[in-house]
Amino acid sequence: MASNKNIVLIGFMGTGKSSTGRMLASRLGRPFVDMDEYIEKHQGMKIKDIFALHGEEYFRRCESEAVAELCERKNIVIATGGGTMKNESNAALLRKSSFVVALTADIDSILLRTSKRGERPVLDAAGNSCGDRREAIAALLESRKGIYDGADFTVDTSDLSPLQVTDGICRFLKGMGI
Ligand code: S3P
Repeated sequence: MASNKNIVLIGFMGTGKSSTGRMLASRLGRPFVDMDEYIEKHQGMKIKDIFALHGEEYFRRCESEAVAELCERKNIVIATGGGTMKNESNAALLRKSSFVVALTADIDSILLRTSKRGERPVLDAAGNSCGDRREAIAALLESRKGIYDGADFTVDTSDLSPLQVTDGICRFLKGMGI
């Protein structure tokens, strides 16, 4: 029997979690939830405004609430935010309730995909303090080393389109009987 476990995409900013998640969900005929959008809807404002108005700590609390609520559901595809797995309780809940797919990418791909300022407050803040966005990404990747490890399946998306990544994940899920 096919599993109704959720499928959760984890990974650093710019690895393609949202675009791949949306495509994967439609391919599998499952509802898709982008956690950042979920939080924005509940808070009635954009992520960047939550950071600006309430600060990162408040955002992280919203993020943990979202994880707890979404892990109660079944049969959905979830795209997490890049920092969701920093919190051990979030990580434990997601690993318990879902098949975890980690997306990775090299620094150049991440830099290119996240080059628009204003959309990633964590990166803007880090870039402002060290002056260089590439360095900011490298430092953040280093500080988050290990948090995306141990997934059920991992895809390096650097040279792949979301469609190709989705195909790879679908092949893996098929092999798992999903
Ligand atoms: C964050 C990543 C963002 C968003 C928030 C914080 C992070 O999500 O949750 O800006 O700490 O890495 P994406 O990975 O979807 O950009």
